[in-house]
Amino acid sequence: MTNASLKKQLHEENRLSWNEATKAHNSHKGDQAKFFREGGNTLFPEEKELLGDIAGLSVVHLQCNAGQDTLSLAQHGAVVAGVDISDEAISFAQQLSEKSGIFATFYRADVFDWLEETANKNEHFDIVFSSYGAVCWISDINLWAKRIAAILKPGGRFVVIDFHPVASMFDEDWSRKFPYFSNSKPLSWEDGISDYLAASGRGLTLSDFDTLRAEASEILQTE
Ligand SMILES: C[S@@+](CC[C@H](N)C(=O)[O-])C[C@H]1O[C@@H](n2cnc3c(N)ncnc32)[C@H](O)[C@@H]1O
Repeated sequence: MTNASLKKQLHEENRLSWNEATKAHNSHKGDQAKFFREGGNTLFPEEKELLGDIAGLSVVHLQCNAGQDTLSLAQHGAVVAGVDISDEAISFAQQLSEKSGIFATFYRADVFDWLEETANKNEHFDIVFSSYGAVCWISDINLWAKRIAAILKPGGRFVVIDFHPVASMFDEDWSRKFPYFSNSKPLSWEDGISDYLAASGRGLTLSDFDTLRAEASEILQTE
């Protein structure tokens, strides 16, 4: 049942925009299957700390994009499913799973529909996980949380980690450009989601992930 509070037309526009952005983003990430086959993992230390030991647990990763973090969860021994509205993201995730030999199930769906259908099927998970860049696309956060609660096992956990909304107030030059409060009106960008990975240089590309982490820990040790 579609809830009137959901901005389904915007979800559809987001799907199309994420299809393009995902293609662009993955074009900068090198041989991702090789990265995973060699034991690479994209989860940040704070995410691992929040998740704890997930070996043997059932985990669903909401708004999983192209599945890199989903496969990383599977590498930690969880039985994982990923959900995303973008066709490009899910198709890439399925291929990455096959090519890397790391098993996960992927669903292409609007997260609101998937949560409702899953609750109706009486399926429940130990952990629902959602990470960086997911919350800002949610058009009704109360309904999202309610539907998440409905698919958790008794004692199950919703683990969410995301950017503080204050970060969305600034443009690329860190000038304050957008208001903090949007008065419940969605923010929109005429050009859609940009290729922010290209703009980030090495910061967000997988192929450099381990090098960057090693460099960071070297700096921390020498300070
Ligand atoms: C910044 S990405 C999240 C990246 C993620 N943290 C990861 O592990 O790679 C945001 C994702 O939200 C998805 N998304 C946006 N609205 C959605 C919706 N209504 N239902 C499902 N996925 C949605 C987009 O397709 C996109 O892949």
